[in-house]
Formats: sequence, structure tokens, C-alpha cells
Amino acid sequence: MTDLPDRLEIADSVLDLIGNTPLVRLKRLSELEGLACTLAMKMETANPGGSAKDRPALEMILSAERQGVLRPGGTIVEPTSGNTGVGLAIVAAQRGYRCVFVMTDKVAPEKVALLRAYGAEVVVCPVAVPPDDPQSYYSVAERLTRELAAFRPNQYANPDNPLAHELTTGPELWRQTGGRITHFVAGAGTCGTITGTGRYLKRMNPSVRIIAADPEGSVFSGGSGRPYLVEGVGEDFFPAAWAPDLLDEVIPVSDEESFLTARRVSRDEGILIGGSGGLAVAAALQVAKRCGPDDIVVVLNPDSGRGYLSRVFDDGWMANFGFLKECDLCVGAVLGARGSALPPLLYVNPDQTVREAISIMRANGISQLPVCKNDPPFAALRITSTLDGGNSLVLPPRAWAPGRRLRAADGEQRGFVLGKLLQRGADFDRVSFEPD
Ligand SMILES: Cc1ncc(COP(=O)(O)O)c(C=O)c1O
Repeated sequence: MTDLPDRLEIADSVLDLIGNTPLVRLKRLSELEGLACTLAMKMETANPGGSAKDRPALEMILSAERQGVLRPGGTIVEPTSGNTGVGLAIVAAQRGYRCVFVMTDKVAPEKVALLRAYGAEVVVCPVAVPPDDPQSYYSVAERLTRELAAFRPNQYANPDNPLAHELTTGPELWRQTGGRITHFVAGAGTCGTITGTGRYLKRMNPSVRIIAADPEGSVFSGGSGRPYLVEGVGEDFFPAAWAPDLLDEVIPVSDEESFLTARRVSRDEGILIGGSGGLAVAAALQVAKRCGPDDIVVVLNPDSGRGYLSRVFDDGWMANFGFLKECDLCVGAVLGARGSALPPLLYVNPDQTVREAISIMRANGISQLPVCKNDPPFAALRITSTLDGGNSLVLPPRAWAPGRRLRAADGEQRGFVLGKLLQRGADFDRVSFEPD
């Protein structure tokens, strides 16, 4: 008892726990990849809200207080559904502000529930209206800001967003690496992280390389802004904090590589990361492979994989987009694995009962069944090669994502064709879909 220090190790409030996140070596990944350099991850999940966004949320609110735009008992309105909302809600709870978040009805219910759990109010607007409609997300956020005389942080334009990282993330990395950091890799959305951290590190040592990881298709890496699936990063416009002069490189990474890397890091390192963390690690691995033993490559992981369990970590979701390697199996091999007792096409008619459908599925160990209006043949399909003895089957274009897993339920015709071919004992080993 006598050696215990007098000082209480109790943080004054949860706000004091924002920042000073740990840096951890990606040891297993480095071994598996045979890296010569040190590859380390800045663990932003250690922030109280579980993401890097706690930092700008705190800085934007403190700065608004200093400027008198946010007064005691005031209201914060921000259109956000993500990590920034959580950060703002935490700071608002601690400092006694009302928080109103505006989001579209496209947002997953868990996200709404999470913000409400912190005591925030959430206004859900229809996604299917034009931006100038009074019910739109933008119009509602503007109206509420006006009516409630609220402070709107607007992280895309607010200079306190990059400033937060310049004042905290940058100095932390400099200190944690003893000034030896050589490369910093992070995803960019508002660009607050990469620009703020990059600004500090370049000031300390202009030869530190600042590298943005960017979803393929986003404008930062020269894309058109076309949609991609990784959340929170990349844009279809250039936010105020975009500072290309600071960037030594912008590395585009595909959705597939981002997600597979997130899964890999979670499994190999025991660090559960999301798609944007996977995107950053994928870019960092490219960088690290070019580095030598004196190099220290730091990759920032912005948030946890917990928020993406129903997407990145869901095999069905991943398979639907063709992101799982198992999908590269030939259809013939998959069918072959079911053994020789595979029945011909199984289907039900609309007037059969659900009980009958379930019993057919149970009896045959299948989870999907096409419902067909009458009896075969259902529709003509353009089938080539297989019918003339080849081993590939070409189906016409439909709403079919490239690489998507083939399932009988994807269409009665497809089910029919597969079943019919099986009945005939066809031995096809490749199925492809005609491009549109
Ligand atoms: C979920 C999420 N939000 C936002 C960002 C981008 O950070 P910033 O807005 O500071 O550019 C990232 C970066 O990887 C992220 O993963």
C-alpha cells in the first residue's frame, strides 16, 4: 500500500480521454508480408466515441465557445449519421448542449439508435426528394439551424477540423515515434485528418511523406466521384481542407481490397477495423513494401469494424458483391460438391403452400427456391456452347453485379437452365454473363 502514488489516476471528464491514442506495431502483418520497415497503426478506436472524429468534434465546439457562437444551453445542428455525430454528442453531453442530427431515411436504424443513446435528437428526412425540397436533408438542416439559432459545425468547411489534428494527432505521432516517423498514411473524407496531421509533421520534418488512401472513383485520386462502397472516405467534391501540396501521394484502393484487408487485419492482428481502416492499411502495405529498415510507416485507423458487422464482416453481403474469394469457385465445382444425388430443378408454383415450399427446401438441404408461374420451360434463354457440348454457359444481361455469386433463386430461368443442364448430365465448369 505504501508505494502507491498520492495522485489519483482519474480523468477529469471523458473529454480528457480524447486523443493520446496508442500506436501499435502491425507485427503479424509485417511478418507475413516480410516487411523490412516498422509498420504501426494509430488506434483511433481508443477515443471515447470509438473514432478519430472525437478530436474535431471537441475542437469545433471549444472554438465555437471561444468565438461566442455557442453559448451555455445552446444547440448544435449537424447533418451527419456517422462518427462525427457521436463525437459531437459526447462533447455536447459533457458541456450541456442540445444536439440535433439530421439524416436521411437511408441510414441504418442502429446509427439513429446510437446517436439517440447519447441523448441526441435525430430528425430523419426522406432520401427520395430533390435537395431543394423543403423536406430534404439539406433544407431541414438549414431550417433547424435558423429556427433554433443553432451552431452548425459543418466539418467539411470548418478550419477547426484540420486544426484538431494539427494540434493533437500530429504532435502525438511525432512524440510516439521519437521524431523518426517517415511515412503517414490515412484515408481522406473531409481531409481534416490528413491535412492537419500532415501540416504538423511536414513542419517538423519536410521529408516525412504524407500519403492519402482513396477509394477508387473518388475525386482525390482523380476519379469522377462515382459511387463506391467504402464508407466515410473519398468524395465527389473537394472539401475546404483538401491540400494537395501537402500530399506526396494519393493511392487509389478498390472496395474489394479495402474490405478484404479489413477482414485480414481483424483476423491476423486481432484488431477489428472497418472498410476505411482496411483501405488505409492496404495503401500502407504498398508503401511499406517499398521501405527500408530505418523507415517508420504509420497508418491511421479511424474507427472500429463493429459498425460494419452487417456489411464488411457479413459473408452474404460480401459474396453478393463478388468480394469473397470463395466466389471464384466454378459453379460446376460447387454443384459437384453436393454429390451425385443432386435433383433436377426444384421449384414451386405460386399456388403451392409455404409449408410445401419449406418441406421441399428441407428435404433437399437448400435455402432458396424459385417460384415459377407454370411448368417448364419458363422462358427461352440464349444458351451457347453447353448445349453444343462445350463447357460454358452464357446467360443474358440482367441486374447482375459482376462476379456475383450464382444462386438458383436469382431467376427462375437461371434455376431452370441449371436444373435442366444437370438433368441432361451437362458438365459445365464456367458460367458467364453477357455484358450489357
Ligand atoms: C469512417 C471515417 N470517416 C471519416 C474519415 C476521413 O477522415 P477525415 O474526414 O478527417 O478526412 C475516415 C478516414 O479514414 C473514416 O474512416
